Amino acid sequence: MSGGSISLSFEVNGRPIVVETAPVQRLSALLRDKVGLTGTKVGCDAGDCGACSVLVDGEVVCACLVPASDVAGRRVSTVEGLSNGRLSALQQSFLRHGAAQCGICTPGLLITASALLDENPTPSEAEVQDALGGVLCRCTGYRKIVQAVMNANRPVAVDSGTIAPRAAVGASPIRLDGERKITGREIFGADERPPDALSVLVMRSPFWHATFEIGDREAFIAAHPGIVGVFTAADIPGENRFGVIPPFADQPALAEGRARFRGEAVALIAGERDAIEALDPARFPIAWTELPYCLTTEEARTPGAKLVHEERPDNLLTQGLVESGDPEAGFARAEAIVEGSMETSYVEHAYIEPEAGYAMVDGDTLVIKACTQAPFMDRDDTAKVLGLPPEKVRIVPLATGGGFGSKLDVSLQPLIGLVALKTGRPAALVYSRGDSMRSTTKRHPARMQARIGADAEGRITGMIFEGDFNTGAYASWGPTVANRVPVHASGPYRTPNYRAVGRAIHTNGPISGAFRGFGVPQATIMQETLYDRLAGKLGMDRLEFRLVNALSDGDRTTCGQELHGVGIRQCLEQLRPHWERALADAESFNKESFKTRRGIGVASCWYGCGNTALPNPSTIRVGISRDGAVVLHQGAVDIGQGSNTVIAQICADASGLPLSAFTLLGGDTGITPDAGKTSASRQTFISGKAAEKAGRALRETILRFANVSDAAEISLEGTVLVIREGQAVRHVALDNLPADAHGYVFSAEETYDPPTTALDGKGQGKPYAVYGYGAQIVELEVDMRLGTVRLLKITAAHDVGRAINPILAEGQIEGGIAQGIGLALMEEYVPGRTENLHDYLIPTIGDVPPIETILVEVPDPEGPFGAKGLGEHVLIPTAPAILNAIRHASGAEIQKVPATPSRVLAAIQAAGRKP
Ligand code: FES
Repeated sequence: MSGGSISLSFEVNGRPIVVETAPVQRLSALLRDKVGLTGTKVGCDAGDCGACSVLVDGEVVCACLVPASDVAGRRVSTVEGLSNGRLSALQQSFLRHGAAQCGICTPGLLITASALLDENPTPSEAEVQDALGGVLCRCTGYRKIVQAVMNANRPVAVDSGTIAPRAAVGASPIRLDGERKITGREIFGADERPPDALSVLVMRSPFWHATFEIGDREAFIAAHPGIVGVFTAADIPGENRFGVIPPFADQPALAEGRARFRGEAVALIAGERDAIEALDPARFPIAWTELPYCLTTEEARTPGAKLVHEERPDNLLTQGLVESGDPEAGFARAEAIVEGSMETSYVEHAYIEPEAGYAMVDGDTLVIKACTQAPFMDRDDTAKVLGLPPEKVRIVPLATGGGFGSKLDVSLQPLIGLVALKTGRPAALVYSRGDSMRSTTKRHPARMQARIGADAEGRITGMIFEGDFNTGAYASWGPTVANRVPVHASGPYRTPNYRAVGRAIHTNGPISGAFRGFGVPQATIMQETLYDRLAGKLGMDRLEFRLVNALSDGDRTTCGQELHGVGIRQCLEQLRPHWERALADAESFNKESFKTRRGIGVASCWYGCGNTALPNPSTIRVGISRDGAVVLHQGAVDIGQGSNTVIAQICADASGLPLSAFTLLGGDTGITPDAGKTSASRQTFISGKAAEKAGRALRETILRFANVSDAAEISLEGTVLVIREGQAVRHVALDNLPADAHGYVFSAEETYDPPTTALDGKGQGKPYAVYGYGAQIVELEVDMRLGTVRLLKITAAHDVGRAINPILAEGQIEGGIAQGIGLALMEEYVPGRTENLHDYLIPTIGDVPPIETILVEVPDPEGPFGAKGLGEHVLIPTAPAILNAIRHASGAEIQKVPATPSRVLAAIQAAGRKP
């Protein structure tokens, strides 16, 4: 023992080790930094998320809460110890069931489940939920995790994983990146760090709105051995403004003397790791002067309110409008009209992986390895801020432990890039959970009003919608929300007379950005809850009312766009037997039960895939190397949704080559073409279409070379390309052929940009080339005395056009539903109060009821193999279906989500329905 450290002996995965460590070092940090076992993930450092779960003497513990000295002489088991050369039954079960999406939670879940299975090899669902209740997963909705654990030691049919050529689309091969995720080998943003890297501490504003002055930097550095630099906005060599939508780019990487929101970055301190970890940020010389601020859209719109940006009058960032027909005339001929208002809260993305990565200078290029959803956007924003040509910034995406929209915006990239450029040393940064929640984007809180009328047959005659969306201090995706909402606020229904306005309004609250749905989930809560009231006024069955109005092929949207491949009617029809059964069940239950009432709700969704009325290209390259590998440059970043596998399946079938021959190269901007950002449910459709085109082009190149027809079959045998047409077989030795600049003997690169048009002043045009559709039924019970809600079952029918990979599609649906449950019932980010995963609640494994998924396949004429996007759609109907079920059960009309027990109880009382 020396200098405050101890020599610690313990056993890890059956191997005795001895390490020097501080006795109070967290076991999680010890395992990751000293033992090199980065399979143990860190999500919160507070015991809230369970990502760091390990076994100590066979007991599950959160390694972030265990001091190193506690494990002296004891046995520690981590995810790396589960496989011993062969995947365990549990790991194989996780792969088979598609139980890992982004994979950041997977090690903690596997470890926890392994402890359960050691005691109980064939647990029940309730036993699995009980055992795994302390580990959060934000992607999967838990249902496949439950199945994987329950079935780990049960005999189930095993998919051989072998897929015949041209049969990949529609199959569910094990995800191509799956094994890395279930063995702990996946490298996330915090898992890699050059040994000579500096650590970076970001100083942030503690005030909603304040000016600041930074004191004597040199004296601060001199007083703190190991600190090598302090950097402020004055050190930024480029244009200190970034933003995802260039005309609105307004966010400084480091604030310039004035911070507009709590958590805004104002300065960077760089130093040796120990020095940064020991630093007391309170000693940083900075003087603050608080300024007046506004946090809500009402405050921000009050005449005379302090402007967040002086150049944006009335704190209005922008607004979108869609207008068609004459809504007032529509109301005049309505048999029934309903109107109402709805308010939603900030929602935190709560991915289990906080932002993390490092930057380094490689020759004349700045290389940034970090988690991201949008490598090329990161490159361009970082280059702009740092005054570099884009080609001198290389973004290498590391695995991303969930994003859901927030990792579309740059966060740490320009900050660590600045430190690396200024110091010449690599610079690493991992956001704390608090910094992640304070400084990154949220779902827009919305205040909405709407009025909808229908005739005696239940046909919608008119609708007016208005929504104010709190976009926070900087623009981020506010313009997208303002413009996407009016297009979608009608729902997937014929609405002949329509006016919808969406406003993005600045406040000094957290920045609101992209979050699965871009405002559409909020608007759908407004529209679908009014639909229930309208159906009730007309005395119509609520599902039937939706079917009367559902869009069909050849119908025009409120933007005047003619639609084809419309599957909403089929989704609702598929739900009809479930609806009738659930209503009958509820009726019979409620005859006997008065304190607990059962309710059934339904809601629909539609969602345009890709950017709204803007160019949105993806490029995919595929090549065959001289050694016989089919290399797919797959730049559609897989943040868990499965694009690595889905894009490869599409390309494989388009080319006629077997999926098993494919090797993936990721979205490294230095080696892979731009496949755009992973957002707006665009990757399966847009990058998938580019992959389909590239696969076909590669095939055509080979067929031309061999001078055979499209009926020929192509396969690979080692380094030999085998081409069969009828009885004729030709063997092409690849290693004898010349390679191109990328190292390929045959290759293709194709770009696809969906055909959209700009919207005119009234929002008329073709904003999206492809829409996806869906509808969900929720069955639940409401405790009439407590206002608590217990979900019983959710049935989800989604039109995916073509299910490229049904298991991954189901996983998307279940994960989206879980986030919809959070939106409806529990998630409310309160700035300054819920900046951790203890006070901010997301659904746990016990909060997600059984989900029955129905995949509807109405092919889209534009999509690859008919496929449509899915990722955002799946969250949209859940919350309104829950609210409709609560109203059906209890009479409670919720006007603010989340529908917490106190709000439900107040609404029950307002409805005069207390038992
Ligand atoms: Fe569980 Fe992503 S797979 S958090």
